[in-house]
Amino acid sequence: MTGGGAGIGLAVVEELVARGARVAALDVDPSGAPEGVLPVPCDVRDRASIDAAIATVVSELGQLDVVINNAGISAVGTVEDLSDDDWSRVLDVNVVGMARVSAAALPHLRKSDAAAIVNTCSIAALNGLPQRALYAASKGAVLALTFAMATDHVAEGIRVNCVSPGTVHTGFVDRMLATFPDPAKEKAAMDARQAIGRMVTPEEVAYAVAYLASPRAGSTTGTSLDVDGGATHL
Ligand code: NAI
Repeated sequence: MTGGGAGIGLAVVEELVARGARVAALDVDPSGAPEGVLPVPCDVRDRASIDAAIATVVSELGQLDVVINNAGISAVGTVEDLSDDDWSRVLDVNVVGMARVSAAALPHLRKSDAAAIVNTCSIAALNGLPQRALYAASKGAVLALTFAMATDHVAEGIRVNCVSPGTVHTGFVDRMLATFPDPAKEKAAMDARQAIGRMVTPEEVAYAVAYLASPRAGSTTGTSLDVDGGATHL
């Protein structure tokens, strides 16, 4: 599980541990990983760091059945506000990081009879949120990558899906809110974006990830599961 040290990823590792899974949290800062989870320092921008982390997971846990590509960073602004460095930085983590981790894990997943990859996408991939040009483009790429990988690996018995959360109240959102001139006003807009009138909880996303990761979703591959409080269709 990448980005397992905080926010949505932390809720996911807690849910998976509660269901009896042996879980590793790969994170630039894995110190937030809870009791019972293997904390593994890993930067998804760095192939050597990923290779070392996957080797640690396999040697410590014995096997690798599920990869959850969740590490991600945000960016606020229109195309006029964003520099080339911003584009490189966010795409490197949110998109290329997923491809790197998946590539390193695939040889191990091929040995599993319950192999699954779950990517954290976002409703921003399809919904045209304001001030999210780069972030939305990165998540659009995650959606396309999910479908492409599902196609490439279906014959190998590896399922690939993604979850698309609405706005989830985590440190990620608090840091984004701090960049707005009126954070309270922006928070109210973020709450209102979901038809249910509030942000999604990390636990609600974790239940969806746990489902997609489990053999109970054996007929589900190449899909995106919205956990968005009705933001997309209501
Ligand atoms: P967060 O900022 O609370 O947690 C992200 C975790 O990823 C942190 O533990 C961080 O250390 C780790 N991380 C960041 N860069 C990394 C790197 N290069 N290598 C390894 N680990 C790294 O964020 P949050 O909200 O939990 O987001 C997780 C995922 O969910 C992201 O992919 C984000 O785009 C996505 N998402 C978040 C939404 C939200 O409203 N919070 C909505 C939809 C999707």
